[in-house]
Amino acid sequence: MSKTPQVGIFKEGSPHFYFLEYHFRSTDVSQVKAAIASCINVFSEVFVVVSFGKNAWQLVQPNWMPATLTSFKMLKGQQGHQAPSTQADLFFWLHGDDISTVFDVALHIDKQMKRVANLNLQERGFSYHQNRDLIDFEDGTANPKTDELKREAAVIAKGLAGEGGCLVLSQKWVHDLDKWNAIPVHCQEAVVGRTKVENIELEGDAMPDDSHISRTDLKVEGVPMKIYRRSAPFGSVTEKGLFFLAFGCELVRFSSQLESMYGLTEDQKIDQLLNFSKAVTGSYWFAPSQEDLAEALGVE
Ligand code: HEM
Repeated sequence: MSKTPQVGIFKEGSPHFYFLEYHFRSTDVSQVKAAIASCINVFSEVFVVVSFGKNAWQLVQPNWMPATLTSFKMLKGQQGHQAPSTQADLFFWLHGDDISTVFDVALHIDKQMKRVANLNLQERGFSYHQNRDLIDFEDGTANPKTDELKREAAVIAKGLAGEGGCLVLSQKWVHDLDKWNAIPVHCQEAVVGRTKVENIELEGDAMPDDSHISRTDLKVEGVPMKIYRRSAPFGSVTEKGLFFLAFGCELVRFSSQLESMYGLTEDQKIDQLLNFSKAVTGSYWFAPSQEDLAEALGVE
């Protein structure tokens, strides 16, 4: 029987999100496992997806790891842009319909985790005007549509180490909205590669090869680098942007897109979006299947 991805990964439609990252402090593995185990299945109405950095997974499950899992390494782009690494050990992604219960679960998780770990990042995400990013373009349109295609893009295949689990990329991107809103809509459309209101992909000569779509709609050795994106806007009137979150069946799905965005390719072109938004965190994670998570934590 195939293993089951964590339920929250594919559950769509929540308007409220919370992101928490931790560095382990305790070297007592059984204490760490007990703390994590007490953070899952807290309230049925809040989905909690738990993911591990490479070193953390090695600690809780020394017997195997997904073949392509690595820690996030900083990228230095062609024109001075950087994607920093802030790789931590543990990542909780929470989502639900009601901010009160989502926040209750965040508080519960923090209470449990602070016994064994230090908080590395906390961010609250929200849905904005029907799936729009704060740059006011719809986000997630080109995501795989059917359950089968989502799984094909996001879930490690049967028979491989980590089957039923997902590789994960998270990056907090801070937007310069003053700069973005100062350029005309047709220029914004050329940066994204889609129209703003109708959300239609630009075609032919109208699609610049340094648009966000051109840099991320990729094939490597004939294989489309499909991923399943679950990003959400975050922030306040001062610091705001996109908490980019994506699930993939292999790490190259993310690394090829990032390299293309930062111009680390033959054509050396950078994604024009980089001139309006800056990555300030970056981590790769492994979200094990429900069965592998339970086994690693020693719970039923
Ligand atoms: C500031 C950060 C980002 C913003 C505001 C942003 C926004 C968008 C928007 C508006 C679209 C078009 C609609 C859609 O298909 O969702 C899009 C598409 C896409 N983005 Fe991003 N994105 C960001 C970062 C990233 C990163 C870091 C990656 C990958 C590592 C990525 C991968 C993709 C992919 C794969 C598509 C679909 C391409 C296709 O049409 O096949 N994005 N993004």
